[in-house]
Amino acid sequence: MKKIILADYIYTSQKVIKNQAVLIDGKIVMIAPKSRVLKEHKDAEVIRYPKNTLLFPGLINTHVHIEFSANKTELSYGDFITWLYSVIENREELMQRCGQECMSKAIDAMLASGITTFGAISSHGMDMEACATAKQNVIFFNELIGSQAAAADVLFGDFMQRLRASQEVQREGFIPAVAIHSPYSVHPVLVNKALEVVKEQKLPLTAHFMESVAEREWLEKNEGDFKEFFSKFLNQDRAVTSSEEFLHAFDGVKTLFAHVVQASDAQYTHLKNQGHAIIHCPISNRLLGNGALDLQKIDTMGMEWMVATDGLSSNYRLDLWEEMKIALFIHSDFPLQELAKKLIAGVTTAPAKALGLPKGEIKEGLDADMIVLQLESAAEEDLELHLILRRYEILDIYIRGERIVCK
Ligand code: BEZ
Ligand code: FE2
Repeated sequence: MKKIILADYIYTSQKVIKNQAVLIDGKIVMIAPKSRVLKEHKDAEVIRYPKNTLLFPGLINTHVHIEFSANKTELSYGDFITWLYSVIENREELMQRCGQECMSKAIDAMLASGITTFGAISSHGMDMEACATAKQNVIFFNELIGSQAAAADVLFGDFMQRLRASQEVQREGFIPAVAIHSPYSVHPVLVNKALEVVKEQKLPLTAHFMESVAEREWLEKNEGDFKEFFSKFLNQDRAVTSSEEFLHAFDGVKTLFAHVVQASDAQYTHLKNQGHAIIHCPISNRLLGNGALDLQKIDTMGMEWMVATDGLSSNYRLDLWEEMKIALFIHSDFPLQELAKKLIAGVTTAPAKALGLPKGEIKEGLDADMIVLQLESAAEEDLELHLILRRYEILDIYIRGERIVCK
């Protein structure tokens, strides 16, 4: 059903326009003066919003672990390896406690905060049903993990089974995809096998990379906090791959690398030259003691970057407004207004571009994934900054043109 949306302001191509209407029909069909749209499309349903409302693109959260949504205070924060030990200790219980209801609750909370598309990193496929029935668009990243060569065939078989199951989900807006966990946790044989599948089937791809100092020291020197971890749990005294071998395996395949806090300049340059993108999860990085990404450096390099929440295993909310606000304060050397604009792009246009999705902007021809925000006064200069600071009420949400009723 065609709809005409009438809000005071429309955020389009990183600027605000007034006195315009948006005609949607699954996609954004037309943005034009109100009188013209109303006259030319008399058959459309007209939806009028109150004074000082802003039509804004739906937010895109590219990195979340839905299966770990049960965590509240169980996992230990402050240090990456301590956290990882606590994950291993609690994972069975946390997974068991997070049934369909718990996962759907996390998904609905994302929706209520304006996230209309999310990338679910699925370790076990337990979240497939919740993601398949979610109202949002979902990039369902089936994750491959396993550093032991002896288990490679079994693990790859299980991964392919999960990937195929996700490819059987026939639902508009649900996109099967692949996640390769990390250089320290995936054997290169598995990395290469998965990459063959990704290339052949042209699937979206993501991976964790250089999240912690421990990861860097393990990959580069077979030393550091991972030494005891690998010796104890996996009977390994050296890393299964080098960071260079791992990175080069992704050459020519656009990948969204999560975290990348501890990468070297040469690695950032390589990522940039290969056209990869960085997923920045500032709250997770802080809580796990991983430091702050040098956002100014990667931005000055012209790298593509976006903002995501990570899972409730390393966050207290799945909320991109909160994530942007924290980023605004963490990166205090970055000029304020400029950073606010880039953070907004980091939850809208940047992830859409990185994933090749026709979304992320209120623009003719793109999917009508939109939210309606109730501003407190007229839209002024520095709108992006105030959007982040004041987190305005969301009056309505549209996904592929459908008006969504939030729980
Ligand atoms: C593994 O499965 O080999 C693994 C998982 C998590 C951390 C490190 C290794
Ligand atoms: Fe993650």
